[in-house]
Amino acid sequence: MGLLEVKDVGKRFGGLQALSNVNLSVQENTVHAIIGPNGAGKSTLLNCLIGKLIPDTGSVTFQGQSVLGKKPHEINQLGISRIFQTPEIFGDLTVLENVLIPCFAKRDGSFRLHAFETVEAEKDLNEKALAMLEDVNMQDKLHMQASSLSRGDKRRLEMAMSLVQDPKLLLLDEPTAGMARADTNSTIDLLKEIKEKRDITMAIIEHDMHVVFSLAERITVLAQGTPLVEDTPDNIRDHPKVREAYLGETQQT
Ligand SMILES: Nc1ncnc2c1ncn2[C@@H]1O[C@H](COP(=O)(O)OP(=O)(O)OP(=O)(O)O)[C@@H](O)[C@H]1O
Ligand SMILES: [Mg+2]
Repeated sequence: MGLLEVKDVGKRFGGLQALSNVNLSVQENTVHAIIGPNGAGKSTLLNCLIGKLIPDTGSVTFQGQSVLGKKPHEINQLGISRIFQTPEIFGDLTVLENVLIPCFAKRDGSFRLHAFETVEAEKDLNEKALAMLEDVNMQDKLHMQASSLSRGDKRRLEMAMSLVQDPKLLLLDEPTAGMARADTNSTIDLLKEIKEKRDITMAIIEHDMHVVFSLAERITVLAQGTPLVEDTPDNIRDHPKVREAYLGETQQT
């Protein structure tokens, strides 16, 4: 059984069947890409994985527990973190302060009024935040204001904010959308480094085939709300059904 199991998921918006019979199994410690043309249902599927949308049919389980109807902080507590298209950081705060923020969250999703209960707790959290920033090569930028960072560094910071919560599964929604090639390549390197350093599973939704083929170990191709094929990158590359799904779309390889 996979870490994340999607079984027979269907979702309708009015007259439009956005997802139907979606079955997907994301295996532990793999990078699993979900690709497909515009309107294929990728974002709808992702929203079903984080409890934001409840499918009309089927189930989504993470380590055997249903994610359906869970609140964002409950999803985090299960061990799922999501990286959005645009980095979600606090521009007015420093790099280090940004990474400390997730440490202040309480189990019910609210924030602790007093961040540190003891001096030891403050030391532990600071050390943890510093270790995360080292993991993403931001140790020299601890006191910079987050808004002044480059796009690639903002992505690195967001990743540290996510990793400090010790997620088992990272869901990435087009993490390189709108980036210049240099920032895209830096994000690819970052994800590879993170994958090497820790036991983490990644499910990534991506349009850029350069990113997909640089990172993915397993690929599911969605078309018109249904998985067309799931296979290794080598088998996907020249798959006739994949070419058919992308007919008319420009592929960057
Ligand atoms: N809230 C909604 N209400 C009505 N229709 C929706 C809604 N969300 C998505 N859709 C429709 O469902 C279909 C799948 O949309 P979705 O956003 O999941 O596709 P996508 O694969 O993420 O596309 P893209 O690559 O453009 O991001 C589309 O036809 C879209 O217009
Ligand atoms: Mg989308």
